[in-house]
Amino acid sequence: MEIAEIAAVPDEATVAALAALWERCGLTRPWNDPTADIRFAAAGPASTVLIGRVAGTVAASVMVGHDGHRGAVYYVAVDPAHGRKGHGRAIMAAAESWLAARGVPKLNLMVRPENAAVAAFYRALGYETEERLVLARRL
Ligand SMILES: CC(C)(COP(=O)(O)OP(=O)(O)OC[C@H]1O[C@@H](n2cnc3c(N)ncnc32)[C@H](O)[C@@H]1OP(=O)(O)O)[C@@H](O)C(=O)NCCC(=O)NCCS
Repeated sequence: MEIAEIAAVPDEATVAALAALWERCGLTRPWNDPTADIRFAAAGPASTVLIGRVAGTVAASVMVGHDGHRGAVYYVAVDPAHGRKGHGRAIMAAAESWLAARGVPKLNLMVRPENAAVAAFYRALGYETEERLVLARRL
């Protein structure tokens, strides 16, 4: 798999391929517009989307960003047709390198407690549970 950073102004085909991948992976939600999320992350200096391609086709992704202190990832996805081949591990390693290159010392991520498979995936990559109360407020 070849991993590359999305262009600051991505072309329509790339945006559509990413949105289709996230749909296949069950990551889209009615209240989020994935194409707007992609353009926002691609344009900003502290965020990007890393795209993994197999034989030229979009097969994996991660949206990665930071607030100057901590990193975060969203839309971590591997096409089910390419699952369990190490592509998830590879795209997360690329996200970690992207953050480390910008001096970000830590990546925080959230997984719904019922999502045992994804928790197992992150644990296999060395992520550990830290007991925190997550507070949020819609703006
Ligand atoms: C989670 C996801 C990204 C994993 O991608 P992947 O390419 O299949 O993962 P890898 O092959 O790199 O797996 C690395 C290790 O993680 C663990 N792992 C991966 N998927 C797992 C699963 N379903 N159950 C248990 N462990 C799993 C294994 O230890 C695996 O190593 P192994 O295959 O040698 O046993 C992929 O399944 C996916 O896109 N899921 C749907 C979208 C999603 O829920 N994303 C997370 C949003 S927070």
